[in-house]
Amino acid sequence: MGSFKRLILYSKPFWWRFVISIFATLGIAGTDGAIAYMVKPVLEKMFSQKDAIIFLLLPVGVVSIYIFRGVCRFTSEYFIATGGQLAIQNIREELYRKNMSMSMRFFNNNPTGSLMSRILTDVSVMQEGVATIVIGLFRDSFTAIGLLGVVFYRNWQLALICFLAIPMTLYPARTIGKRIKKLSSQSLGKIGDISKILQETFSGVKVIKAFGLEQREVNRFVKTNSEFYQITRKAIKYAALSSPVMDLITSIGIAAVIWFGGSMVMHGRMNTFEFFSFMTAMFMLYSPVKKLLSTYNVFQRSFGAAVRVFAMLDETPEIVDHPDAVGLGIALGDVEFKEVSFRYNKENVLNNVTLSVTKGEVVALVGPSGGGKTTLVSLVPRFYDVSSGSISIDGIDIRNIKLNDLLNQIALVDQETILFNDTIANNIRYGKSDATSAEVEAAALAAFAHDFIVELPEGYDTNIGDRGVRLSGGQRQRLCIARAILKNAPILILDEATSALDTESEQMVQKALTNLMLNRTTFVIAHRLSTILHADKIVVIDKGEIVEMGSHKGLLEYGGLYQKLYSMQFE
Ligand SMILES: Nc1ncnc2c1ncn2[C@@H]1O[C@H](COP(=O)(O)OP(=O)(O)OP(=O)(O)O)[C@@H](O)[C@H]1O
Ligand SMILES: [Mg+2]
Repeated sequence: MGSFKRLILYSKPFWWRFVISIFATLGIAGTDGAIAYMVKPVLEKMFSQKDAIIFLLLPVGVVSIYIFRGVCRFTSEYFIATGGQLAIQNIREELYRKNMSMSMRFFNNNPTGSLMSRILTDVSVMQEGVATIVIGLFRDSFTAIGLLGVVFYRNWQLALICFLAIPMTLYPARTIGKRIKKLSSQSLGKIGDISKILQETFSGVKVIKAFGLEQREVNRFVKTNSEFYQITRKAIKYAALSSPVMDLITSIGIAAVIWFGGSMVMHGRMNTFEFFSFMTAMFMLYSPVKKLLSTYNVFQRSFGAAVRVFAMLDETPEIVDHPDAVGLGIALGDVEFKEVSFRYNKENVLNNVTLSVTKGEVVALVGPSGGGKTTLVSLVPRFYDVSSGSISIDGIDIRNIKLNDLLNQIALVDQETILFNDTIANNIRYGKSDATSAEVEAAALAAFAHDFIVELPEGYDTNIGDRGVRLSGGQRQRLCIARAILKNAPILILDEATSALDTESEQMVQKALTNLMLNRTTFVIAHRLSTILHADKIVVIDKGEIVEMGSHKGLLEYGGLYQKLYSMQFE
């Protein structure tokens, strides 16, 4: 019931829409009840008293009643549906905000496709439920109550006999509803799997084509898609079953009316017109009661979705501002790692790393692949928090700095070039949205990207496609460098920032980076040792530990791992 209460809470800001809708619903229920009730007096006037005026008034009356009912119906549906939509929009927004606030660890554990389907499909299913439930619950139950009133008023003994059938409907309705809820949750999980496959294969389509594995991916998709069908088939079965079961029970009720009511009329204990009024109300009751029962199924379905959605909303972000986090204007850029250990899962990836870097220093991190270089630098912007030990900037533990302020100190060129489906200018401007065109151009010039940009058909306004597919690897990398240059932050992290460049452009970019590194604390990770010869300090990392540290010359003379790596590259 917790989820249901929360759903109501989300609807609270739009309460007046619901109130209008409920009043309109009362109008619908009232007219339905009135129609059933009027059957008796109208029939009496028409057929017993042969009243001529009623023949004139009745057609006008019928049309007016239906106009009134139509207006009520429109109002109730419009306001309920918009109210529900607004509530759902808020939930979707909050879900997105929550996802954005989660740490990298969360994204490592949750495939993009499932996250997308949670925000798209699950929320839609939930929304479908909200609208149907509220409209259904109010309109149909009010209508049913009105008609029940008529039925009882006309002949309560007969009514009691008929409604003995009602408790019989409850058990199957409940059983079916519960199954549907469970199946709904499962089928949403499958949709998550499907969108996971879609996301993965569309974004990795090049590799799939290169290996000629289209058919295998199609098979994988077909399998998941048919698993989805299997679950849906069961849900369809229960939904389809609910109608005939209810029909059967209703028919028992109707049979009872005819049997008992008919005999009452024959024995003169009930007037014929009363009987018709009673029957009309009974038949009119059929539709709202049936709808109420199917509402119950929709409710169960959307409840399954709501549980999944709320579960995600309840995730606590791992990395948040400490309650008394301090602001930080522009840092000097002293960075200190103190006995830092870190693990993604069970095993330590970094062990007791202690390293202190003074402002403006250029530190090169080198070492075998998988040693932990990228991991070490990703702790500085708090993509992950250290498992033990601490990292500080200007002597302040980074966990005590406001996250936004911390990120303002850091410009990052990642090992993967990450660009957005937008223009070149906007991609460069990403870290500084108010940068002028002149500033953008200056950054591109410094990153040796300007020349290729102006040769593109639309220059800086060229759209580069998904993740920059319309550019070469080296061009993408230079855009990322330009983006970092424009951000102008005191701490610079370059993870394999020049790996996709040819020797010539690398030399040029290197020059640009040398300018950029001036007066900035810089972490450079490079496999090509030529790019780091001039670092102030070279740190060799192997298996999560610092194994050597010193200048290029010093380390060569020392004759350890660095010397070995160096001679492998140059001899
Ligand atoms: N997101 C992750 N989840 C779990 N383990 C990870 C994750 N990222 C990296 N690792 C593991 O951590 C270790 C260090 O990886 P890291 O990326 O820091 O190495 P690296 O020194 O940057 O290597 P390279 O030179 O190839 O870039 C590796 O053993 C890797 O398997
Ligand atoms: Mg790396």
